[in-house]
Amino acid sequence: MITEILPVSGESTEKAAQLLKNGEIVGIPTETVYGLAADAFNEKAVEKIFLAKGRPQENPLIVHICDMEMLPVPALEIPSLAYTLAEHFWPGPLTMIFKKQPALPDCVNNGMPTVAVRMPEHKAALELIKKCGFPLAAPSANLSGKPSPTTAQHVFNDLNGKIPLILDGGKCGFGLESTVIMFNVNGVKILRPGAVTPEMLSEFTEVEIDGTVYRSLESGEQPISPGTKFKHYSPKADVTIIDTENDTLFADYVNSHDGTNTYAIIPSDDKNIVIKTRCFGSTSLEQAANLFDLLRALDDEGAEEIYVRCPEKTGMGLAVYNRLLRSAAFKVINLD
Ligand code: TXA
Ligand code: MG
Repeated sequence: MITEILPVSGESTEKAAQLLKNGEIVGIPTETVYGLAADAFNEKAVEKIFLAKGRPQENPLIVHICDMEMLPVPALEIPSLAYTLAEHFWPGPLTMIFKKQPALPDCVNNGMPTVAVRMPEHKAALELIKKCGFPLAAPSANLSGKPSPTTAQHVFNDLNGKIPLILDGGKCGFGLESTVIMFNVNGVKILRPGAVTPEMLSEFTEVEIDGTVYRSLESGEQPISPGTKFKHYSPKADVTIIDTENDTLFADYVNSHDGTNTYAIIPSDDKNIVIKTRCFGSTSLEQAANLFDLLRALDDEGAEEIYVRCPEKTGMGLAVYNRLLRSAAFKVINLD
């Protein structure tokens, strides 16, 4: 199959909608990461997503809607708090978990009683869902296990020959996947941190952060969010997070661990570091936007070892830290 990349336009969006109506899958831009979309109610189309990505069937997909009228199509028993949060954070990088409509095919969520729903903010994504008239099931458009794609080229690199079309909407603004929450008796529980931060949510309700945001699963532990159980965001290189407040300690550590293909990912230039470096920005928003692109670029350069300066663990920094932990297979060295 030839994989076309077309810049977003009325015409290319129409073409994408036709493909989706015909049961095909399409790479689409969103404000978080690129998604690989299918008609959520077309079982055969949804199965193509799992096949193209090599995604484990047990990992449920997010269903994307374009307006509040579409919410009851995949979801049942919507709590009033969801409407409050939707008012403030939709369209945007927030995914909420609801009871699922029985009509939604089981392959979307591995037969779970719940479904994850998001209204993306990217104009092309909203326009496409509107043109289709049905919600789109879409995971991140990477090969399973790899860092999520933040450009159309990343999607092409992973899925060339496996999908007919990628809509190119430019570089994703946030660069990390949406915040995933579920409702509990007191408010909400964050299963995956993202650009809608715990601090932002706590203006409206009580916020709990699931333990698996910070740690690997214990043996035999069944996570609430099945996605946390799989290998994620992993470049080919070995990634280690170096946690320290002290610039000199960090520089000394990486300088003494230089190998042939060793790199340090740091917030901003530091003349005391003599090994190869890449900067991912000094704010959490910049770091989020650059992280996956950098990990992919270092793979292309043949990096074998990557040391990353530990990000902040608050605000959007928590999302950066959460993805890095998984890239690093939870390898953190604390120097303080
Ligand atoms: O920003 C995003 O969320 C992107 C864009 C394309 O919208 N999508 C995305 O999808 O990141 P994916 O499939 O890579 O991640 C979906 C996450 C997984 O961790 C999965 O376990 C969780 O959402 N999830 C989906 N349905 C769930 C459910 N019913 N209960 C608990 N977790 C669920
Ligand atoms: Mg993903």
